[in-house]
Amino acid sequence: MAMSTRPRVLLVGAGAIGQVFGWFLQSAGCELSFLVKEKYAEEARRGFTLYELGLFKRRAAPRLFSGFGVHVSIEEVAARRWDQVWLCVSSTALRAGSWVDELARATGEATWVTLQPAIDDRDWLLQRIPPERLVSGVVPFLSFHAPLKPGDPFPGPGTAVWFPPLARGLFSGPQERLHELLRVLRAGRYPARRVRDAMRATAPATALLTAFVEGLESAGWSFERLLEPEPLARTVRAAREAVRIAAWRTQQSASLVLLLLRPWLFKLLLPVASRAAPFDLETYLRVHFTKVSEQTRLMVREYVALGSKAGLPVEALRDSAR
Ligand SMILES: NC(=O)c1ccc[n+]([C@@H]2O[C@H](COP(=O)([O-])OP(=O)(O)OC[C@H]3O[C@@H](n4cnc5c(N)ncnc54)[C@H](OP(=O)(O)O)[C@@H]3O)[C@@H](O)[C@H]2O)c1
Repeated sequence: MAMSTRPRVLLVGAGAIGQVFGWFLQSAGCELSFLVKEKYAEEARRGFTLYELGLFKRRAAPRLFSGFGVHVSIEEVAARRWDQVWLCVSSTALRAGSWVDELARATGEATWVTLQPAIDDRDWLLQRIPPERLVSGVVPFLSFHAPLKPGDPFPGPGTAVWFPPLARGLFSGPQERLHELLRVLRAGRYPARRVRDAMRATAPATALLTAFVEGLESAGWSFERLLEPEPLARTVRAAREAVRIAAWRTQQSASLVLLLLRPWLFKLLLPVASRAAPFDLETYLRVHFTKVSEQTRLMVREYVALGSKAGLPVEALRDSAR
């Protein structure tokens, strides 16, 4: 594998997570470019403003993030050489059209990094990118376009990012490529950790989160309403189904999660998480999951299809998607 001292990195999508990964990769010394839709090119060329939030750092100073290339077409991308391609788009955007196939042809032997959360994303990508070049990652931070709501303490618009305490960005993949990727990320002070299978390690948690989001949406994005007995019981039922299906699909036991997955867990964790987050968590969840609502639908459809195939219960999940 050709390894340059300054890795040439292409990030597809300069939204909430693309900007954050871009920031860390640039800090690590990478030569950075974004592939964006034409409608975002001008904004990207001006540079982005980032805010890094912390438990005790609710009022962050803005940092200008610029000095990267901006491309709007596969032809432009094909004219250059790349070491890494990061997919910073949703699971639904991944499947929209044939751009992934075209990009794969245009980027030679580059290492690809998938960050998408749907349970079949990796298999979908493996039909286009060989396993020896595909690294899987999990996004451990929350990022959003700030301000989330009027009165938020940001001096101007930008992208805010928060790493919950002890959050680690898990990665797995072919040894040599993964090693190089982790070296770069750590040089940029990104909290990366190697695991055997990042998707498998997080599949039950992702399933739980997906059912929780569906429940929250049905409750009008209100924690208070979600925690009422009936909506909560329905959400817990859907979450238990989703977790069981994810565990079946990734061949692992879900007994511990299922043991803990009871209404009291939500009653305990929601207030704790709301207090810990240095922004309004309820608003973040509404804004973020409205933005990626098609992706949540796709994920629920996948759980229902897999569960039906495995003969596992799917009724609550199916109802939640209505
Ligand atoms: N933000 C978070 O806190 C967070 C946390 C964990 C995981 N994630 C996951 O990360 C993924 C991305 O989320 P995000 O918050 O970064 O979303 P986002 O802010 O919408 O960013 C994605 C960007 O990629 C663009 N895009 C879509 N298809 C493209 C293509 N073919 N070429 C170039 N650009 C393209 C989108 O354009 P449009 O605006 O036109 O769609 C959008 O600007 C999702 O799967 C999400 O679930 C996000």
